Amino acid sequence: MVTKSKEIMELDKKYYQQGYARVPIVIVEGKGAVLKDIEGNEYIDCFAGIATANAGHAPDALVKAGTEQMKKLFHVSGRFHTVPQVKLAKKLSEITPGDLKKTFLCNSGTEAVENAVKLVKKYAFTNGLTGGAMISLECAFHGRLGYSFSLTANASYKKGFGSYSNAPGVKHAPVPYSYRSKFSEEDCGVEAANRLEEVIDRQTTGDVAAFIMEPILGEGGIIVPPDSYFREIVKILNERDIPFIVDEVQTGFGRTGKLLASEHWGLEPDVMTLAKGMGGGIPIGACIGTDQIASCVESGDFFSTYGGNPVTSAISLANINYIQEAGLVENSAKVGKVFLDGLADIQKRRPLIGDVRGKGLMIGIELVKDPSSKKPAKNETKSLVEKLQKAGVIIGLGGIFKNVLRLQPPLVISEEQAKTVLEKVDDGFSKI
Ligand SMILES: Cc1ncc(COP(=O)(O)O)c(C=O)c1O
Repeated sequence: MVTKSKEIMELDKKYYQQGYARVPIVIVEGKGAVLKDIEGNEYIDCFAGIATANAGHAPDALVKAGTEQMKKLFHVSGRFHTVPQVKLAKKLSEITPGDLKKTFLCNSGTEAVENAVKLVKKYAFTNGLTGGAMISLECAFHGRLGYSFSLTANASYKKGFGSYSNAPGVKHAPVPYSYRSKFSEEDCGVEAANRLEEVIDRQTTGDVAAFIMEPILGEGGIIVPPDSYFREIVKILNERDIPFIVDEVQTGFGRTGKLLASEHWGLEPDVMTLAKGMGGGIPIGACIGTDQIASCVESGDFFSTYGGNPVTSAISLANINYIQEAGLVENSAKVGKVFLDGLADIQKRRPLIGDVRGKGLMIGIELVKDPSSKKPAKNETKSLVEKLQKAGVIIGLGGIFKNVLRLQPPLVISEEQAKTVLEKVDDGFSKI
């Protein structure tokens, strides 16, 4: 008998560009931290649509906000003021750190980064510079289109795209990746910051539009920079008046146990990019700048047909309020600790686990052939992901060597569900 999922997967092969490494599961429903497939099987979701469904699947508060807004107005062009759009912009200025104040709304993380790039380039221009250079980190992910694709520094995504993936002026500075560094954690941060300084001073004329980084690198393998890194780079950037863009597309909205990951280090960037958890699953993104930076924006510089759409704005605002009011940031910190403690325990008996790291519900488990060589255990990681799917747990896979399991569930996940996942992870290791 041909299963329903097989039928859908055959249609997909025929009619959809096969740019995704698809999982052979057809998801039809989700509630809270549980997903259901077309055959009725249930899964504990530990990936949240890639760190996006932070408020859980189909939360009532978001459904209500979206439905109410849809009954009134689906869409109007950005040439008109709308209430949801400005309310959301005001909310973002209230929850973001430092002097971040003025928002541009768009439809995805990539667009948020693209708009941030335009913003800092225009800001450089108004200061008599060209903003010819831009710096991001090795292993970074900032998108797969346009300039953001060049800022992304993971060669495995770039094959076949030639100069489209390498815009002029983009430089990559070494990543502070403690687990793979020969230095202590503190020194790894200082060393990587020194290397950033060298990239600025040796590879650019000083005409740098901005330095952009994810506070915790998501796609790169949940790499948490040491505290020393942030301490040092803030000094380096300030001394040179180089704007700092913090890309919180993946780390934002409670994911790391704080509303924004910047709070862990007291970062006060000049520009911040947001998406994913900002909408809980509806397509929305934001680029927010300080008054000083945003003062360079002139009429006609930015526009998006759907950016700041009334429906997506209303849902996003309801989503942020829900995350705050339902205590999901606190739950992220609490259940994140259950996961980290449980994984540390599993690590003791599973030598394949080289490193467990993360904050809140943004956790990476790096698998290696053996702890001394740290040779990436890529096939074993893939096999474990598949074993877990069969056991009813959806978990992510990432890292530049594709050897990092990514635990990034909806922030509504309970301690009980976390314990079930831990048991299944442990059991999965016994089978590979
Ligand atoms: C840090 C970061 N920036 C930008 C993006 C691109 O976002 P999107 O896929 O919504 O375009 C991602 C996506 O994973 C991301 O993790």
